[in-house]
Amino acid sequence: MATLFKNIKELIQVRTEPVSFLSGKEMKILPTIKDAFLVVEKGLISDFGAMQDCPTSDFSEVVDATGKMILPSWCDSHTHIVYAGNREGEFVDRINGMSYEEIANNGGGILNSAKTLQSASEEDLYNQSKVRLEEVMLLGTGAVEIKSGYGLTLEAELKMLRVIKRLKENYPVEIKATFLGAHAVPTKYKDNKEGYVDELINEILPKVAEQKLAEYIDVFCETGYFSVADTERILAAGQKYGLVAKIHVNQFTSIGGIQAGVKYNALSVDHLEEMREEDFEVLKNTKTMPVAVPSCSFFLGIPYTPARKMIDAGLPLALATDYNPGSTPSGNMNFVVSTACIKMKMTPEEAFNAATINGAYAMGLEKKVGSITKGKLANLILTKPINSYGFIPYSFGTNHIESLYVKGEKIG
Ligand code: NIG
Ligand code: FE
Repeated sequence: MATLFKNIKELIQVRTEPVSFLSGKEMKILPTIKDAFLVVEKGLISDFGAMQDCPTSDFSEVVDATGKMILPSWCDSHTHIVYAGNREGEFVDRINGMSYEEIANNGGGILNSAKTLQSASEEDLYNQSKVRLEEVMLLGTGAVEIKSGYGLTLEAELKMLRVIKRLKENYPVEIKATFLGAHAVPTKYKDNKEGYVDELINEILPKVAEQKLAEYIDVFCETGYFSVADTERILAAGQKYGLVAKIHVNQFTSIGGIQAGVKYNALSVDHLEEMREEDFEVLKNTKTMPVAVPSCSFFLGIPYTPARKMIDAGLPLALATDYNPGSTPSGNMNFVVSTACIKMKMTPEEAFNAATINGAYAMGLEKKVGSITKGKLANLILTKPINSYGFIPYSFGTNHIESLYVKGEKIG
């Protein structure tokens, strides 16, 4: 029961030797095979190479990819796709001159989404979220991290995490769950943030861990949200339960969140729109992946992560969508890759590496997805006929994806 893809115009991100992640100059190289074949067996990539070496055995299915390219599916390591309702009203408020911060200070923002989510049934939340998951799959995402953080009570955080679990069970893409109880201070604790952090650590976190609902722990480490000291307390508590840190830092202000992340061996530090010199330095020679979310910068009109400076300093970088109702109501990794090239001056090679293998690393999936490597999952994008892979970021806004294959099965 093997499937052969033949006459592939170009097979992209071919790694015969497995790599964990790519940094600095390595990111400029995107290995490919022109006029290639690829074989999928039992959901895994079992063989690939140049067409002249294409095996002639009997295949249960043969896909002729003449004129089309194949690349590993996008690895979106930072999303909040489980949410209820939307914040279109705040979008218009911002158009009319209010800032994201002013909206949040008036009880909008994350607290607005939390209110909607708390009153939504689990079934409704699942149904709303699965639409978004299906949408991003059709846009080429084959592995995705999803955070809680719009619950902000024991009951609602567990509800969100159970919805993520149900998505994991019902969809073939790889899904990783992150507990983000420290996303905002709930209204009830408005003047008692410590009280909420205590509840988070003593009441909510133990239940999340006991029910095995998350692999990662996140904190919105930001002025007006959670301080570096709060972040360190929460990460230390998470570590006791085996939850690895993946945190929101430096979105609006640089307050030492990256340093806290590195100290607690965070797998990733995400956002990084505001970077000081010392923030670059502390990331060097660590295993912590910096993650940029350019769609968020686009939507909020805030600075873009200084990708060029980071990569030129020898750092790695991953790209993710940050799909959420407030700062990034879009889960389109193709747009992210384009925006990284257009606004952050990443080359197409760097952007593809950042959105595949480095994204896989940023959610602990680098052994399973993110490159065309024998034994990895056959989570693949088959493009429409295109001239070159650089055409994907260049012609932004156009959908070049013909189909996504997940574990070798065609989706859409
Ligand atoms: O990653 N910054 C924190 N969390 C989300 C936005 C949350 C919201 O506005 O709903 C983000 O941008
Ligand atoms: Fe986020």
